[in-house]
Amino acid sequence: MTIIVTGGAGFIGSNFIFYMMKHHPEYRIICLDKLTYAGNIRTLETVMRNDNFRFIKLDICDRAGVYALFEEEKPDIVVNFAAESHVDRSIESPEVFLQTNIIGASVLMDACRKYGARFHQVSTDEVYGDLPLDSNAMFTEESPLKPSSPYSSSKASADLLVLAYHRTYGRQ
Ligand SMILES: NC(=O)c1ccc[n+]([C@@H]2O[C@H](COP(=O)([O-])OP(=O)(O)OC[C@H]3O[C@@H](n4cnc5c(N)ncnc54)[C@H](O)[C@@H]3O)[C@@H](O)[C@H]2O)c1
Repeated sequence: MTIIVTGGAGFIGSNFIFYMMKHHPEYRIICLDKLTYAGNIRTLETVMRNDNFRFIKLDICDRAGVYALFEEEKPDIVVNFAAESHVDRSIESPEVFLQTNIIGASVLMDACRKYGARFHQVSTDEVYGDLPLDSNAMFTEESPLKPSSPYSSSKASADLLVLAYHRTYGRQ
């Protein structure tokens, strides 16, 4: 089993890699990360010398680079943690959020279709908006989308794109 984990030098992606390498040491894990301000290669120091681990510095929006990696590694699964994820930064400069969070997700899905890999998108509760602090209300996946920042809008857009790809292209 070969898994490409995007955004694996970030907060949640790195912990996912540690979990998978501990519980499934026979899996090959490839971390694809652009190493933006949010990524730190040193986080992955403990797994870097593992024969079943590979790090590649790449932008998920780089279609040619992504396709070349898929061609070489033939992944079974892709888990997309890569994102611009800081709400305040999205208010300052929305464009890179649209690029990475929407276009990047579509490039990965196109690669998955082309090379026959299963795609997992990591979303956020923020696509559903806010809950009052003093209530026990919860969101479900049926809750209406109500994003309130460029960040959450870009994540909601990616979610819609994932649903549309699944409906349009189905399982490959
Ligand atoms: N942190 C949270 O509280 C939280 C909550 C809900 C959902 N999420 C989602 O979980 C995922 C991971 O969040 P996080 O907190 O670990 O983020 P993070 O900002 O810590 O890490 C993001 C990683 O993605 C990489 N990256 C950014 N743009 C890239 C690109 N174009 N190509 C390749 N790599 C790129 C960065 O270098 C970094 O390593 C995101 O999709 C985020 O929307 C996070």
